[in-house]
Amino acid sequence: MPDTLTVTDNRTGRSYELPITHGSIRATDLRQVRVSDGDTRGLVSYDPAFLNTASCKSRITYIDGDRGILLYRGYPIAELAEKSTFLETAYLLVHGELPTTEQHADWAHEITMHTLVHENIKRFMDGFHHDAHPMGMLLSTVGALATFYPEATRIHDAEQRRISLYRLIAKMPTLAAYAYRHSRGLYYVRPDNDLSFAGNFLNMMFKMVEQRYQPVPEIERALDVLFILHADHEQNCSTNAMRSVGSAQPDPYSATAAAIAALYGPLHGGANEAVLRMLMRIGSTERVPEFIEGVKAGKERLMGFGHRVYKNYDPRATVIKEMADQVFSVTRSHPLLDVALELERIALEDEYFVKRRLYPNVDFYSGLIYQALNLPTEMFPVMFAIPRTVGWLAQWEEMLLDPEQRIARPRQVYLGEERRAYVEMSERDGRVMAASAAG
Ligand code: SDX
Repeated sequence: MPDTLTVTDNRTGRSYELPITHGSIRATDLRQVRVSDGDTRGLVSYDPAFLNTASCKSRITYIDGDRGILLYRGYPIAELAEKSTFLETAYLLVHGELPTTEQHADWAHEITMHTLVHENIKRFMDGFHHDAHPMGMLLSTVGALATFYPEATRIHDAEQRRISLYRLIAKMPTLAAYAYRHSRGLYYVRPDNDLSFAGNFLNMMFKMVEQRYQPVPEIERALDVLFILHADHEQNCSTNAMRSVGSAQPDPYSATAAAIAALYGPLHGGANEAVLRMLMRIGSTERVPEFIEGVKAGKERLMGFGHRVYKNYDPRATVIKEMADQVFSVTRSHPLLDVALELERIALEDEYFVKRRLYPNVDFYSGLIYQALNLPTEMFPVMFAIPRTVGWLAQWEEMLLDPEQRIARPRQVYLGEERRAYVEMSERDGRVMAASAAG
């Protein structure tokens, strides 16, 4: 059988053969479906929120939502979480292969050597209100970074792309830590380049008066695994923003700022913060049934549950739940963990959630770990942005190097007014008065 789709336009009786490649048809092939010679547009595919539209071809991440599968460049997420490190996984996502010892050493060196930010950034940070949300601070300082590296606009220069990628991956933890320290009225901690990526982040976040910060190994490892789990996730909302803004070819800092803005939303990266606030609002396992009834009545959403793609358990949630036990073994068990476990138990049994195939997603347990690490709730989406910067950049570069890609400019289904002539204000006023007089 040929790899084609035959469609018949019943308005004209004409049939069309549309080629099928990689399980998809080209939306532009629908343009040939016209009702008359005067029909200059042809048929348009309408897909609000891109529920069933591929915006690109990609080789980075593969998700099978029904089977709960997540692969980074073909490697299962659970194996990478168990055997890899965040920096090694970052190399894999960007380059497509796991690094050799020498490649990893060079990669880690380059990123480590770019953790510092220009001293003027501190003045940026100091300008924010004491209770400024750290995602707002991150969003604006990452955008501002573009002004420190004007050569970053040379995005077709592979070397320039490489240095921008090192800088963004390396500086995201520094900016995140600065935002946290600012909110606590604490001095900014310089990076300690002898520590791991996760260890250095903990250092910049929590170092106080000790000579050198020593991360707790279990917490350092848990954070590194969380960074692996959050590094990429195919064409999610913030990656779509990165690709769409990136398609207009600004510098990567500006495109990353747009991706951070998307991740800020409570339906996306802001969900882990919303989960904690939800758990705090529920407060005890006794109040879980009442809350669940509110969700089923449509009064609110069970944050941390549901996913556009996963209609089964999010494989990252499985790993994070195991990490939570490790972290709580060295911190203290989390008082809201019981509430989370009871919510999960009921939701996995209740017809309302089962019918809608709503399972815990990556955000359901991550917030509990971050709170056990004494991170304030508003820092949770920032913890998502740090590792997701790698995915955004890998996807951005893949878009730039894809010969089929060009500036993103979707079409629309116009339902507005037909052409009409301008009416003078005096006449408009008269019409309104006449209408009101007629009652
Ligand atoms: C992330 O895309 C990615 O890959 C994202 C991410 C990544 O790594 O980048 O995985 C990270 O963003 C995870 C998702 C975090 N967000 C949340 O936990 C917020 C709560 N979940 C949702 O709001 C919702 O599930 C979404 C936004 C995640 C998915 O929304 P969809 O696919 O557009 O589904 P929908 O909103 O159309 O819901 C379908 C039905 C609706 O019921 P009906 O109108 O058919 O009766 O399911 C219901 C929704 O009301 N529903 C929920 C629900 N999620 C969906 N009902 C209660 N609680 C929920 N959480």
